[in-house]
Amino acid sequence: MSNTASLRPRPVASEHTPLKARNVAFDWADTPLHWIPGDPDSTHTINVLHLLLPAGERWFVHVYKQVLPQIRDARLREDVIGFIGQEAMHSQAHDDVLPHLERLGLDPTPYTAQVDWLFEKLLGDRPPLLNAWAVPPLPPGRASQWWLMERVAIIAAIEHCTAFLGDWVLNAEALDARGADPTMLDLLRWHGAEEVEHRSVAFDLFLHVDGGYRRRVRTWATAFSALVFLWQRGTRFFMENDPSLPDGKASFREFFRAGREGVLPAPGAMARLVPQYLSRTYHPSRYGSTEQAAAYLAGSPAATAAEARPAQHPAHHATQQPTQHPTGAA
Ligand SMILES: [Fe+2]
Ligand SMILES: [Fe+2]
Repeated sequence: MSNTASLRPRPVASEHTPLKARNVAFDWADTPLHWIPGDPDSTHTINVLHLLLPAGERWFVHVYKQVLPQIRDARLREDVIGFIGQEAMHSQAHDDVLPHLERLGLDPTPYTAQVDWLFEKLLGDRPPLLNAWAVPPLPPGRASQWWLMERVAIIAAIEHCTAFLGDWVLNAEALDARGADPTMLDLLRWHGAEEVEHRSVAFDLFLHVDGGYRRRVRTWATAFSALVFLWQRGTRFFMENDPSLPDGKASFREFFRAGREGVLPAPGAMARLVPQYLSRTYHPSRYGSTEQAAAYLAGSPAATAAEARPAQHPAHHATQQPTQHPTGAA
């Protein structure tokens, strides 16, 4: 028997949960600019989520609609449709925070315009080099399939990070102890719980349609480096444009301080994401707790209020109007 079997991704059994989008809504009227009282650095470090996720998660949905026709496993297809529904809601919920920040004097548009360009143009349906050379859309065939697989792998890599952040925020008791705004905490924990709930979907999809280890390493390096770059840049943007901080500057010292105090994830825990994801036996189900996520969602003010609201059906639209894959694969 080959010993390579011991190096394959090993999921934890019985972690599967049916996914549904919750039609949440948040009232930001009483949320202060520094929603972690007295800690603008940590507030704005977490606020970067509102800059990146609206365009980023819209892009997940865009890419997954293209890959849907290539899924040959009924349960995985259902999971991907559930994932699409949840990510569409996440994108919208974070987008809804931006006008509130603007009302408080912090216009996010200069940064979000760049993030929109990144996801819609650079990571759009043409590989970046073809974009740069203004080559027309890719014809059906191997190049477009290669680029689709590359993007599916990038999403799997990002989802390792979002599952980590989801697990972190569900357990970040320091935020409660500091008196963080309850509405913002509920947004972060509702989102975090759904990230934990669907943490295996993107990686399972990547394994199903490709799963190549070199691609996993390459796209992880790209995605992780890009996230670190965008995050520090976003934090600097908020600190420098915060009207209440005339000399606002992001600092690594504050970042390490907040990590030690549990108000932000610890840098060491973030560094461990790298060997985790690159392990040959990595599977997302081995990290985080579905049970804890379900328990939070059962008591979340936004998620429970959503039960009484008519459901939106982004997943339904995804199945009714899939973007046909350029190869015509079905
Ligand atoms: Fe999400
Ligand atoms: Fe996600």
